[in-house]
Amino acid sequence: MSTSPTVTIAASMRGGTKDYGSGDAAVRALDGLDVDIAQSEFTAIMGPSGSGKSTLLHTLAGLDRLTAGESWIGETQITGLSEDKITQVRRDKIGFVFQAFNLIPSLSARENITLPLDIAGRDVDPQWFEEIIAILGLGDRLTHLPAELSGGQQQRVAVARALVARPELIFADEPSGNLDSRSGAELLGFMRRAVKEFGQTIVMVTHDPTAASYSDRVLFLADGRIVDEMREPTADRVLDRMKQMGH
Ligand SMILES: Nc1ncnc2c1ncn2[C@@H]1O[C@H](COP(=O)(O)OP(=O)(O)O)[C@@H](O)[C@H]1O
Ligand SMILES: [Mg+2]
Repeated sequence: MSTSPTVTIAASMRGGTKDYGSGDAAVRALDGLDVDIAQSEFTAIMGPSGSGKSTLLHTLAGLDRLTAGESWIGETQITGLSEDKITQVRRDKIGFVFQAFNLIPSLSARENITLPLDIAGRDVDPQWFEEIIAILGLGDRLTHLPAELSGGQQQRVAVARALVARPELIFADEPSGNLDSRSGAELLGFMRRAVKEFGQTIVMVTHDPTAASYSDRVLFLADGRIVDEMREPTADRVLDRMKQMGH
């Protein structure tokens, strides 16, 4: 008789609700959402624009607070924690790739990449740094300021910054969105390797079926709820599912 493998949960949410604004302008971005993110799994989140993908990522990562419901990072319940404690959990455990990069304009690419470690007072592992830089093709761009880099290069700096501290959990909002197809494929291949070889946990928002096909599991969001999921996705199956969802 085979036993099912024990799944460790890296992050989860129960009844996650997020409202923005009030009165006539009120928007329910997350509508009582339940999700478990398994450790060492690559999860993709898809759904129409405005379906709550970024909000889900931000609230799971403790960057933004839920209006109601609860969420955990590992064993730590983050709803109800003080801002200081949440910041500490984020620093220790989480890397985040923002949709809009969020690089510091006055810092070089290298300084932006090592910033999380510098803030945490931790040393940079030179071998890991070199590996990330080589894979992301940033070796000759490290002294440049963000304004001197293309969109794709800025995106790769943002990815390197999320990876440099070897966080347990990486959240990425459209990480391959600004890359040409070759660099996009390289980045996604690297992310998949990080999951398979180093046991990294990654949650990635994407609207690209090919990008989603690198993941182990796709969650489909609509109107702030998870409406479907797919394991071992292929680009064709994801595309078919998206067509059924009408976008
Ligand atoms: N800061 C905000 N203020 C007001 N409304 C917001 C804010 N952020 C997101 N929303 C709204 O919440 C809903 C979900 O947004 P978002 O999570 O960004 O969706 P997605 O990433 O899937 O496009 C949308 O209706 C959006 O307009
Ligand atoms: Mg978004």
